[in-house]
Amino acid sequence: MTEIFRRGEKMMTYIPILLAVLLGSQGQAKVADSDAVKLLQKYVQINTVTTSDLTKAVDFWKQLAAEDNLPISVHEYTPGYPVVIIKWAGTDDSLDSIMLNSHMDVVPAAMSDGWTYDPFSGHLDTNGDIYGRGTQDMKSVSIQYYMALRRLKANNIPLLRNVYMTLMPDEELGAENGMIPFLKSQEFLDMNVGLELDEGTSYPIPFIPVFYQDKVVWQIRVDCYGISAHGSTFPTTDSTATGKCNNVINRFFQFRDEQYALYGKAAQDNAGGYTSINLNRINAGTADNVIPSHVSLVFDMRLGNTVDTEEFDATLHKWISEAGENITLTYILKNQQSPATYTNTTTPYWTAITTAAASAGVIVAPILPPGSTDARHVRNAGYPAYGVSPMPSTELLLHSVNERLNKNTFTKGISFYEKVIKNLANVPGSATAQNPVAYLYKTAE
Ligand SMILES: *[C@@H]1O[C@H](CO)[C@@H](O)[C@H](O)[C@H]1NC(C)=O
Ligand SMILES: *[C@@H]1O[C@H](CO)[C@@H](O)[C@H](O)[C@H]1NC(C)=O
Ligand SMILES: [Zn+2]
Repeated sequence: MTEIFRRGEKMMTYIPILLAVLLGSQGQAKVADSDAVKLLQKYVQINTVTTSDLTKAVDFWKQLAAEDNLPISVHEYTPGYPVVIIKWAGTDDSLDSIMLNSHMDVVPAAMSDGWTYDPFSGHLDTNGDIYGRGTQDMKSVSIQYYMALRRLKANNIPLLRNVYMTLMPDEELGAENGMIPFLKSQEFLDMNVGLELDEGTSYPIPFIPVFYQDKVVWQIRVDCYGISAHGSTFPTTDSTATGKCNNVINRFFQFRDEQYALYGKAAQDNAGGYTSINLNRINAGTADNVIPSHVSLVFDMRLGNTVDTEEFDATLHKWISEAGENITLTYILKNQQSPATYTNTTTPYWTAITTAAASAGVIVAPILPPGSTDARHVRNAGYPAYGVSPMPSTELLLHSVNERLNKNTFTKGISFYEKVIKNLANVPGSATAQNPVAYLYKTAE
């Protein structure tokens, strides 16, 4: 169909044929835009808040796979956390496959937070906005992948490489029960993955960001211990737990201010240039007139992509020891630095994506985001990954009240994926490296 549109002067004569093709396939395989919108609404209506029962979401995918006669399998690496794999078979089983990943779980949402419509209604308003938790993060992408594949099949467009849709649980809480064990499984190995696509973000201006690396998360707890005494006594500052933790906070906030200055100067597309740090929990005290013997702090940090993790770990310990005696540092989460996926002609997958975007009339650009996704685990396991969610010119509402997506943006995203998947799945075997790890590079030790 792209060919027909390129020959602009002949377009008129092809319109009846086009209509016939569209209407014909609509009846059989449900590929119309309106079917896609209904499918997204239906999926949003299934409450999949992280840690909830995902049976209904799994059944939703089982039903779709049955309609299209696709092999589907469900695996629980942690009981109660299903991972779904749907296979769209390519013609050459020996080639590395394309893995289209999305997560089924969503963050909590409630009317009482201030939503205009029930966050699990999938309400379509008169502006064409589809409301609901997951409309941006990232049920929309799951449906877009599926509809794009359905259309490729309806249009008899062959796929050379196997394409797998994987649907994860537990992304929002760190993937310990989802992507992390999945990457170690036989099922994953058997897929012979060459490239993974994962989530990106909406963007307020007319282009689609492509994440090629994620910032890694470190969360630490600092416990300060000091003397406990009656509130009327007056011990030295450095002997109290509060005094010690005050020193810790001062040192960490000095670092925070330095990093904040870097953040101010950083390019919009590169959050790798600074380390963000926030003090997110403070626990202390048993009574108003008792000096607490124990103060506990939790810091959340997203490391800059060039930070040497061993050096940074040593620095944190140094600051803690300088702050006083009897202060301990405990890691809650300590991800290793994740490699980056090349975003140039080093990899034919990048060329496949940019060529597809150009033919869809959209601009894609590499971005290093401030947050992180399941793709960091995939890259750490040695597989190239890009994060893309085709939502250009769209207010950023991931995890927000009134999360919504316009139906036109949503359906344009299906056409975008049709081209992207077609190109990716048809990269010839001769063009790709023996080992997909060749498409990753390190930005830090
Ligand atoms: C540190 O803790 C130990 C053991 O609880 C205690 O004996 C010592 O006095 C504490 N030192 C300071 C400076 O609080
Ligand atoms: C591709 O990107 C990498 C990393 O930025 C760079 O080192 C390399 O020179 C680039 N290669 C080409 C062909 O542009
Ligand atoms: Zn997400």
